[in-house]
Order: sequence, then structure tokens, then C-alpha cells
Amino acid sequence: MNKKSILDIDVQGKKVLVRVDFNVPLSSKDPNDDITVTDDTRIRAALPTLNHLLAQGGALILCSHLGRPKTADDKQYAMDPVAARLAELLDRPVIKMDEVVGPEVSAAAAEMQPGDVMLLENTRFHPGEKKNDPELSAALAALADVYVDDAFGSAHRAHASTEGAAQAMRARGGPAVAGFLMQKELQALGTAATNPPHPYVAIMGGAKISDKIKLIENLLHSADSILIGGGMANTFLKAKGYEVGTSLVEAEALPEAERLLALASDRLVLPIDVIAAEQFADDSPADVYPVQAIPAGRMALDIGPDTVELFTQHVEKARLVVWNGPMGVFEFSAFAQGTFALAEVLAELAGQGTEVVIGGGDSAAAVQKAGLADKMTHVSTGGGASLELLEGKTLPGIAILDDK
Ligand code: 3PG
Repeated sequence: MNKKSILDIDVQGKKVLVRVDFNVPLSSKDPNDDITVTDDTRIRAALPTLNHLLAQGGALILCSHLGRPKTADDKQYAMDPVAARLAELLDRPVIKMDEVVGPEVSAAAAEMQPGDVMLLENTRFHPGEKKNDPELSAALAALADVYVDDAFGSAHRAHASTEGAAQAMRARGGPAVAGFLMQKELQALGTAATNPPHPYVAIMGGAKISDKIKLIENLLHSADSILIGGGMANTFLKAKGYEVGTSLVEAEALPEAERLLALASDRLVLPIDVIAAEQFADDSPADVYPVQAIPAGRMALDIGPDTVELFTQHVEKARLVVWNGPMGVFEFSAFAQGTFALAEVLAELAGQGTEVVIGGGDSAAAVQKAGLADKMTHVSTGGGASLELLEGKTLPGIAILDDK
């Protein structure tokens, strides 16, 4: 990585503004409930950076967005549950502020000593965050001497606490550098995007092909084969002329699917069998069918065992596998077999030295549900960010950081 990191700066006795991505799932949307964090993966992922900065004598002012609140009145998105979980994980008190910036925050920040940790209120409670308002960025930067970005999951957003704050810190003469998580994500996903080892096999899934056309197109330049599963496979199957019953098909994406197949049908590998059910329900009658024989009244909700076998043959030859999107409706146990079987194969291959990178979002949730996340080479904490990086886009939150 050609960006400076926290290993390139001295934070002893300094105040460090750290943008983290603590956009975590919560137990309730009702602000009157006792809301807790239901998955702390993203908080844990930032701990190496936070512990390093604390060990080096920094005082930490952390900021993050949480959910997509419309205004500061959406109290169910307040950072209090995150502060509580962070304090447990860091094993030290976390000062939770009720505002993003303002006189109280500035006064509290001015009092901070090395080893102190403060968490600002949800950055999206401030109307300037999503507008990348330079005033908000300047106010955030003015709280600290150094800016550290460890929010890979938010790196595709040019917001006031990401790109804006880095710029504002530089304008004040302070450094703007990457944290360890940011570095790790760039190492794994950035290498796949720019300089992959071959054979390189990409596995694409998820419901919609329209979300991933750019990604598939970009992969056609770099991957040796692209295995397609999940709901999006139906659109490709239909484009190839198969009848897919009542399966989800994106009619408007059919021309794109046809175009991609015409470009590289030898490298786009489609399912050869599926598990198809009568209804979109866990207990709906379901059977395995070859893709040539999906009954008119059934919908494909998972890849079948022969497809798992076919995909296994491809990934076994790979030096790098990148997986983005589940193979079926893994939230229903009846349609999780394809996704989990593939996760098992990949976990084993990772153990034997294949580089296995799991994109964030649903694929990360799937390998976690399968209990295999820690067996993979890397599981990204970024959903949209990992997708955009693999699409070959420049992420503004990273581009703005200090070059080496
Ligand atoms: C994510 O969960 O992908 C990031 O935290 C970004 O969230 P956003 O899509 O609401 O900007």
C-alpha cells in the first residue's frame, strides 16, 4: 500500500481523531428499548488499531455513522449501545458524547489525557456529514492533532468524517493516515483488484445481477473464471434460453446478461442444477432439478449438489478465490446447503494455502453463520466498499490519505 499508516506517525501525547465503521446491527429499532449490539465484528476489527494508538500514548476521539438516520431525532441510531460494547472490548471507560461537534465536545476533547477514549455521537445526526460539509470536517479535525481512517466499510463515501476530515486535518498541517484494518482490507481486496495471482476464480452470488454487472465486467479482465450462483444465476440461465419456472428473473437485465455471456461464456460458469421450491418459504416442498428441467411452478432458491461439485473443481485449481454474494437463500436452512457447502470447501482450501477473500455484507454473514469466518484468509468488513474496490473504482476515503 502506498498510503501512510499509523506505523509512520508518532501519537505520543497527541489527540487522535479515528474514523471507524461502527455501523453494526442492533437488537431493536425502538428507541425506548434497551438496545444492544447484536454483531460486534466491526468493533472487534478496529481493536488492533485502537489498542496500538493507546499503547503509543494517544488519546482517542472516535467517530462513526450508525444506520441511515434521517435526522438527529432518530434516537434508535444513537451511539450509546456501541459505546457500551466498545468499553467492554477495550476494557476501559469510553466517554460517550451526545453531539458530533460543538462546544461541549470541544471542551471534553481539550481535557483528554493519553489513554482516554471518547466516542462522538452518530456522525449522520449532523446534517453536514453526508454533504461532506467543510465546516463539519474542520470542526472534527480541530478536535485532534492526527487523523486516522480505519473505516474501510465507509471508504466509498466522500463524507465529512471520511474524506472531508482527512482533508481538513491536512489543511491544519496534521497527518491523515490509514489504520491497520484499512491496511489489511487494501492488502486483500486491493491485490485482488489490481494484481491478482492466477488462477484467479471469482464467485458471484446474491439476488440481483443489476447490482453486480460492473463488477462482473471488471472481473472479465482479471479472473480466469467467474462462478455464478444465487438469484442472479436465474437471469443468466434465462438469457441462455432455459425455462426457470417462477424463479426471480430480472427481465430488464436480460440484455446485459446476454451481452456478458456473449463476451465470455467460456469463463462464466453457471449452475447445472438447483434446489427449487413451490414457495419462498423455509418449509416449502423442495427438490433438486437439473437446470434443463426446472418445473413451471417452482423457483430456484439454492444451487444443487452437482453445481457445488462443479464449483469445487474450479476453486481447487485457484491460487486466489474472491467470493461475493451467497449461492442461495441461506437465511432459510432448507436453502443454505449450497452456500455452506461452498464455504466448507473454501475454508479447507484456505487451510492449504489458497488465498480466500470473502467480500463483506451477505457473504461475510454467510461464512459467519457457517462458523467458518476465522478459517478464511480474509473476510471483509465492507459491503459496498469491497464491491466498489473490486469494480476497480477509486475509493475517496482512501485516495485522500497521505502518500508514503
Ligand atoms: C456499510 O455498512 O456498508 C457501511 O457502513 C456504509 O453504510 P452506508 O451504505 O449506509 O453508507
